[in-house]
Amino acid sequence: MNVLWTADALVEATGGRPHGQLPAAIGGISIDTRTLQPGDAFFAIKGETMDGHDFATAAVKAGAGVLVVAEGKLPALGRLTAPLIVVPDVLAALEKTGRAARERSRAKIVAVTGSAGKTSTKEALRHALSAVGTVHASDKSFNNHWGVPLTLARLPQDCDFGIFEIGMNHPGEIRPLVKMVRPHVAIITLIAAAHLGHFRNLDEIAQAKAEIFEGLEPGGTALLNRDDQRYKLLARLAKAQGVKRVLGFGEDARADFRLLDCTLAADSSTIRARIGDTEIEALIGAPGRHVAQNALAVLGAASLVTADVGKVAEALASLEAEQGRGRRHRLALPGGAFTLIDESYNANPASMQAAMALLGATPVEDGGRRIAVLGDMLELGSHSAKLHASLAEPVKRSGADLVLLAGPEMKALADALPEGVAGEYRADAESLKPVLLDAVRPGDAVMVKSSKGIGFSKLVDALIARYPAQTGQQAPA
Ligand SMILES: Nc1ncnc2c1ncn2[C@@H]1O[C@H](COP(=O)(O)OP(=O)(O)O)[C@@H](O)[C@H]1O
Ligand SMILES: [Mg+2]
Repeated sequence: MNVLWTADALVEATGGRPHGQLPAAIGGISIDTRTLQPGDAFFAIKGETMDGHDFATAAVKAGAGVLVVAEGKLPALGRLTAPLIVVPDVLAALEKTGRAARERSRAKIVAVTGSAGKTSTKEALRHALSAVGTVHASDKSFNNHWGVPLTLARLPQDCDFGIFEIGMNHPGEIRPLVKMVRPHVAIITLIAAAHLGHFRNLDEIAQAKAEIFEGLEPGGTALLNRDDQRYKLLARLAKAQGVKRVLGFGEDARADFRLLDCTLAADSSTIRARIGDTEIEALIGAPGRHVAQNALAVLGAASLVTADVGKVAEALASLEAEQGRGRRHRLALPGGAFTLIDESYNANPASMQAAMALLGATPVEDGGRRIAVLGDMLELGSHSAKLHASLAEPVKRSGADLVLLAGPEMKALADALPEGVAGEYRADAESLKPVLLDAVRPGDAVMVKSSKGIGFSKLVDALIARYPAQTGQQAPA
């Protein structure tokens, strides 16, 4: 077992009261008994629907080394014999542990926020920086009031790079999180309509994302998307926060980390970029212009944390598309295979556009068609209908031959589909399933995308379950 915390250090970090015989070493931090590893400290935090204290016995069974619990819950925990650290408030104790981890770390810290591409950029950073040092990064999309302190509390003392995803649904959410993380580099991937429900417009979203500058370490850098319409606003907000170094990545001629050339293939891209004084050519192992854009942020951040950019660029070749974020499958039908692009993890207008571009860049074989399978983009508030209808343009540009739609909001797109594009609309994913399973033909390229809550990942699962993976033959490049 690796030692993440000594028991003494953890007691000191939490400010809690030890109870029972604590193990000398703690291997990890857990808030979920389903993923808890033997030797972990289990923090019994209270979520929206569940209270970790109800899982105390499960944590002990799973082999927790110590449980961090609330003073007020002690009577209810009754006969529990496990070693404890007793604190007034467990989430606050997790935050304190996170701050202590940050305090003892010498790592170069990068924080990533933005309306889309946070996880993709974070994972690309994890992957690429691993070529030049040890990296600790957020699990999944652990980017909120518990995800950020949890990730921070898990930061190993001796690691070289820490990569943190920070998200938000409303103003004021990023500020306290970034103040814990204290990044050297703060990346904003892009500003787009996502969770618009809580905001009147994109400027307000930009304002909320700009809170990330408030936690930058002195001398730290704001790394912004130079091609984003709100670049200037964000740069101004960064300067107003006293950030001296504001740099941009993108295609714009004024970008500090500049994309000079980008060639898109079906399952990779090749980019040429100017990073500082060097021109870099890199193969990126996952497809899509948006992935190339994220890669530029990765190269910029790598250069800012003084990593060997050449090595980092080389590592991008082995990047893989994540599940639900552009991962490709070749599935067999009698008479030939078709390509499935799994974009089912999430959707907002920016990532829908990126995914449609990806579909457009995906070649189809003889007689094959491009099929876009699209579900609702959630949390767009009063702009929802308009934003769904406005997907008609990217659908047209993608060259989609057939569009399969489901979800109450997608009705707006169903009514606005461009002429010459065949469409089918169903109320929900479940009723769209038979239509989709029936529609695919050899040579097709099928792209599935919706917000998570709409459940289009089930459509992906259904295709994979029905049609066996084709082995031994690559997707057409
Ligand atoms: N730079 C980008 N621009 C637009 N869409 C993107 C970008 N990067 C990733 N995406 C797409 O957005 C969706 C969500 O990506 P993800 O990285 O999980 O974002 P987040 O963590 O911000 O929610 C995926 O479909 C992904 O392919
Ligand atoms: Mg995410």
